[in-house]
Amino acid sequence: MKAEDIKNVAGIGGGVIGGSWAVLFATKGKNVKLYDINDECLANDEKTIDGNLQFLKDNGVIDDMDAIKARIQFTTSMEEAVKDAQFVQESGPERLPIKQSMLAEIEQYAPVDAIIATSSSGLPLADTTAKAVHPERCVGGHPYNPPHLIPLVEITKTEKTDPAKVEEAKEFYTSLGKEPIVLKKDCPGYICNRLQLAVFREMVDLVERGVCTVEEADRALTYGPGIRWAIFGHNMIMQLANKNGLKGMMDMLAGGYNLCADIASWDHIPDDYGAKAQKEMDEIMKNLPDEVGHTNEEISHYRDKMLIQILKLHHKF
Ligand SMILES: NC(=O)c1ccc[n+]([C@@H]2O[C@H](COP(=O)([O-])OP(=O)(O)OC[C@H]3O[C@@H](n4cnc5c(N)ncnc54)[C@H](O)[C@@H]3O)[C@@H](O)[C@H]2O)c1
Repeated sequence: MKAEDIKNVAGIGGGVIGGSWAVLFATKGKNVKLYDINDECLANDEKTIDGNLQFLKDNGVIDDMDAIKARIQFTTSMEEAVKDAQFVQESGPERLPIKQSMLAEIEQYAPVDAIIATSSSGLPLADTTAKAVHPERCVGGHPYNPPHLIPLVEITKTEKTDPAKVEEAKEFYTSLGKEPIVLKKDCPGYICNRLQLAVFREMVDLVERGVCTVEEADRALTYGPGIRWAIFGHNMIMQLANKNGLKGMMDMLAGGYNLCADIASWDHIPDDYGAKAQKEMDEIMKNLPDEVGHTNEEISHYRDKMLIQILKLHHKF
């Protein structure tokens, strides 16, 4: 199926991610049916969607939010949500038994050629689709939060996935302005959550060793590597850092202090880190400038405003 032939999209689960996907799909002209488990959840989903649309309008990304909102229908009937869908984006809770039972219910009613994509952040697709009747049309479609702004989608597949469906999913996401990357093989955590966790493990380790505070680790990342990573990936950054390029940089690192041997390698987050770091985080949030905000909601809003500026530099808006 060509991307332009995908007109009806079903969103299964409308929380942080599902509510953001729905806005993206509707903004790009798709008819969206959003399913959630009860009316209370749907009312929350609608609030998330209204907030996302208002934000896009306030920041000059969209004009007519009512017309976009009118393309989103809300339902507690799975059958109603998926029966006419050409593309299903599942964004339910990150628990394997729930993902498997959602998939079973979707498959019961969805057209057999519909693509079913899961937003899962790290479950191997082979596990999620282990009981699928038609695993050939299932892909991973892992967004980065919030999907109505951040371009990346990691597409995963299994040995049973039809390569044509992978290509269709890739073309569909591309047509929405996303930057899809198809993983060559299924892998827990995919690419980005692994990269993110590797950096985070080292941040935790530096704090635990007493080298820096939580706030200093975050500031070092934001005003150092993070600001360059918003432009280029680390391989390119290395390429630019040495007159002999990436290879020259590797030779230089190999001939110097073996930092790799000192990097954190523990295999679980220290039990008491969360509570300790939260205390410091509460203090950090209290002391932020008012324009940045002091609550999760206010700070996310500030983050998203900054994201729009960065995305404009990438010609994404
Ligand atoms: N939050 C993130 O940063 C992020 C980023 C990328 C991917 N994801 C993935 O997206 C998915 C959703 O995460 P989230 O953060 O939006 O969670 P969330 O808790 O905000 O939303 C989950 C939604 O699923 C609904 N739900 C609960 N049980 C359900 C069921 N049986 N069937 C259908 N819907 C059901 C809930 O009512 C809610 O609307 C997860 O797989 C998560 O790993 C999350």
